[in-house]
Amino acid sequence: VEVVVVSDDGHTGAFDHLFTAAVRDGLGEEGYGSWRSIDEPDAVSLSFGFPYPESFPHEELVAAAEAVFEAEHDTALQYGGGDYADRLVETVAERERRRGIDCGPENVLLTNGATHAIDVVCHTFLERGDEVFVEAPTFMGSLKLFGNYGVEVTGFENDADGLRVDAVAAELERREDAGEATPKLLYTIPTFQNPTGTTLSRERRERLVELAEAHDFVVLEDDAYGALRYDGADLPPLAALDGSGRVVRTNTFSKTVAPGVRSGWVLGDEELLEEVTRMRAGGTNTFTQSVLGYYCTEGPFEENVAELRTRYAERRDHMLDCLEEHMPPAAEWTEPDGGFFVWVTLPEAVDTEELLPRAAEEGVTYLPGELFFPDDRGRNCLRLSFSHVSPGEMDRGVAALARATRSAMAGD
Ligand SMILES: Cc1ncc(COP(=O)(O)O)c(C=O)c1O
Repeated sequence: VEVVVVSDDGHTGAFDHLFTAAVRDGLGEEGYGSWRSIDEPDAVSLSFGFPYPESFPHEELVAAAEAVFEAEHDTALQYGGGDYADRLVETVAERERRRGIDCGPENVLLTNGATHAIDVVCHTFLERGDEVFVEAPTFMGSLKLFGNYGVEVTGFENDADGLRVDAVAAELERREDAGEATPKLLYTIPTFQNPTGTTLSRERRERLVELAEAHDFVVLEDDAYGALRYDGADLPPLAALDGSGRVVRTNTFSKTVAPGVRSGWVLGDEELLEEVTRMRAGGTNTFTQSVLGYYCTEGPFEENVAELRTRYAERRDHMLDCLEEHMPPAAEWTEPDGGFFVWVTLPEAVDTEELLPRAAEEGVTYLPGELFFPDDRGRNCLRLSFSHVSPGEMDRGVAALARATRSAMAGD
């Protein structure tokens, strides 16, 4: 009689020997997105970095799709797409030039969103045993991707001016003196970071690009929120400061149009991009690219992004007002100039993962800080998103968070 041992979750292990080493390493771990189950139907969700539904340009996208069919007929649906898909590449290059980056269409590779863009860059550079430096905390989707490649992830502190580039420099120098290996890639979200909302200062940007050249690594600049600035003047992207082609940039239309269009891009040095292109199997969404190509060149894309900045600025202000009004004085939070998130630090003794069920009962969910660290830091922190819920819900949610925090601080 063959006995098949089935674990509590129904896992038999029958295929384990066929999986890659990275998959085997992750067996039994919670899958990506398991934090979604934290969501309680009756609680206000301040968890998700989703755009608010009314921000979606429904009518404009319908008009764009009709115009694309009218102009391109079958070509719009064929492999490779037509002129409007090409126009999207030109538009992206043009917008990146306006940010100060010296580039053309030959430097742009369209992808099915920024996660796909980061994945193809990882696929091009990373193999098992390599090391990636990140700011800690960082975007958990990217941490998940790095896990897929079986690489070591080393996190460096992030303060009000973004990544502590001085700490990165000190570690690189220490390693070189000790004859130890340095990383191949440094992943950063320099502008309106996910999850903290902080922005890397100009001086640190310059220093980081110099370090990449001096210590021979690639910088992966994730600029998912760069177009959504609410206060202050734009800072140059890392790619605009880079004279050696070491900065590879990824971006997305998820936050400026809609996540469902699954469209983003990689921008980089031509020689490097050629290899990234070879690694990008399966083609991309050329039909959506055509629709976006029309929307961005003949539709009101720019005006709509300007409107989004105004609306999100109001939401950001409202979130900060709610925190000021409700939270106990021992709590601290960031005040972002753009993006979708506020990072809250509670007193050391409060564990935000343990607090979550109580917060949900009180009427709010958030993402516990620990999800954003490559190690076990961040236990007393949490991320709030102001992008998705209405101002009224934000009020209720932050008040519930304050009640849960106060009772945890009182040791109840
Ligand atoms: C910093 C950051 N990078 C990348 C992404 C992924 O974007 P996309 O929807 O294009 O895959 C997100 C989305 O939440 C993000 O916050």
